[in-house]
Amino acid sequence: MSKHADASEGVGRTILTANDGPDTPEEISRRTFMATATMTVSGIIGLVLAVPIVGSLIPSGSSGGGSWSPLTADELKSLQTATAKPVKLSFTLKYTDGYLPTQQADEYVWGIKVDQAKFEAARPDIYATPGGNVGYPAVNLGFVIFSPICPHLGCRFDWNTGQNKFLCPCHGSQYNFDGAHLAGPAPRGLDPLPFREQSGVAQVTWIEYKTTVPQRIIISYQA
Ligand code: FES
Repeated sequence: MSKHADASEGVGRTILTANDGPDTPEEISRRTFMATATMTVSGIIGLVLAVPIVGSLIPSGSSGGGSWSPLTADELKSLQTATAKPVKLSFTLKYTDGYLPTQQADEYVWGIKVDQAKFEAARPDIYATPGGNVGYPAVNLGFVIFSPICPHLGCRFDWNTGQNKFLCPCHGSQYNFDGAHLAGPAPRGLDPLPFREQSGVAQVTWIEYKTTVPQRIIISYQA
């Protein structure tokens, strides 16, 4: 117990500060209770805040559970009638930003028509666990939808019909029809996005993966 003598008055009085107090068993017990209660309340608040943040980063897979952006009937038709050429699919992306109301933006993805067994053989990186596995079916209804974002540093790549490859204009990364990495500094192949059909409407979900690393690490997920 610390005490401070009031020397100015010279009467030997002591003044107790806020931190001073008797070290009786009751006082020690009270302090222990307060410390435990504070830690418990802090833990509960942290848990309440953490659950929605973690939940927002978990892909819901093809079974749904979030909001999906629909493709138009024309876009779906162009995908269904595609042959050996990827199809650029434009759509309106619905997204949320913090606590703002849902917003919209014009976006596009790349769709390819595949034989599932051949695609899985061509893209083992998508099915590698841990690190590559996206946690939802990369192939759905015989199609794969690729994010348009280059896994190197995030530029937009394009399909080059003459070379039969996806080419990124920024640093020269190249990917084949299946999105496998062929050349350039990109650390992995193209990233597939969730795709499904509901009541005749094809829908995609926008996920942004971390660039520059071989693993697929979600940095934002619009569901
Ligand atoms: S951003 Fe595509 S190669 Fe660098």
